[in-house]
Amino acid sequence: MSEERIVYVNGNYVPESEATVSVFDRGFLFADAVYEVTAVVGGKLIDFDGHVTRLKRSVAELSMPAEVDEAKLRGIHEELVSRNDIDEGLVYLQLTRGAADRDFLYPDTSTTPTLVLFTQKKAVVENPAAERGMAVVSLPDLRWDRRDIKTVQLLYPSMAKMEAKAQGADDAWLVEDGMVTEATSANAYIVTGDGTIVTRGLSNAILHGITRRAVLALAEEAGLKVEERGFTIDEAKAAREAFVTSASAFVMPVVSIDGAKIGDGSVGPLARRLRGIYLEALAA
Ligand code: PDD
Repeated sequence: MSEERIVYVNGNYVPESEATVSVFDRGFLFADAVYEVTAVVGGKLIDFDGHVTRLKRSVAELSMPAEVDEAKLRGIHEELVSRNDIDEGLVYLQLTRGAADRDFLYPDTSTTPTLVLFTQKKAVVENPAAERGMAVVSLPDLRWDRRDIKTVQLLYPSMAKMEAKAQGADDAWLVEDGMVTEATSANAYIVTGDGTIVTRGLSNAILHGITRRAVLALAEEAGLKVEERGFTIDEAKAAREAFVTSASAFVMPVVSIDGAKIGDGSVGPLARRLRGIYLEALAA
């Protein structure tokens, strides 16, 4: 971290070195918290309403008494983008059930939730990884069964990413009952021999990606064939192309799985085209 950012904590904009959260915060003690990551391109928030809609859903699924006010949250995001001079990067929103004496039972619903937002400057558009493509390895999906809720329980994804790195790869694709669920922090896709884009259907097994929804809609608009179904690592290894999507990576090509080249091992034309279509839509 170089320059000191301004972050948001429960109603206040403060320098990051002065920002504090209680040691009794349930986000810290129980991972009793949800989050969202919104990309910023040209100072503009990408798909903000999609992120707020998913946040509302996460909050409801966990019976958190937190109020999710779209206009207020948009205002905070915009203020942080402006105060931190973010042209390209990310805004993180973390919302916990608040601070209460340690007890597995949820505290009284009058407990004030903790809301924290911070920014990261990052070259999300001109990302060199998009030219190179990513190497992934397969690992068992050992996360809990409610991956549709965007909680901050990110220890297993973090462990999986470390294991991928130890194996010389960039990320892991997670496998459950023989089928790929998703990547550690992105949705996973393959392109079959006839040019069909295949990605797992929505369920509690994966996060309902906001980028996934946008990219699938753009693919269909472009006349590309999309199939929402599970696939195995063997099918992925034999696929013509592979890629992932997320708010931080947009459309990111995958060029090898468990050391096996996908296609000829270079970035596939469809992944490149979809990234282009997505970036054009952002600029529009
Ligand atoms: N991750 N699946 C998982 C497990 C994720 O953590 C993410 C996002 C996605 C893609 O969702 P979206 O398109 O809405 O970003 C899929 C964020 C970027 C993160 O944790 O940094």
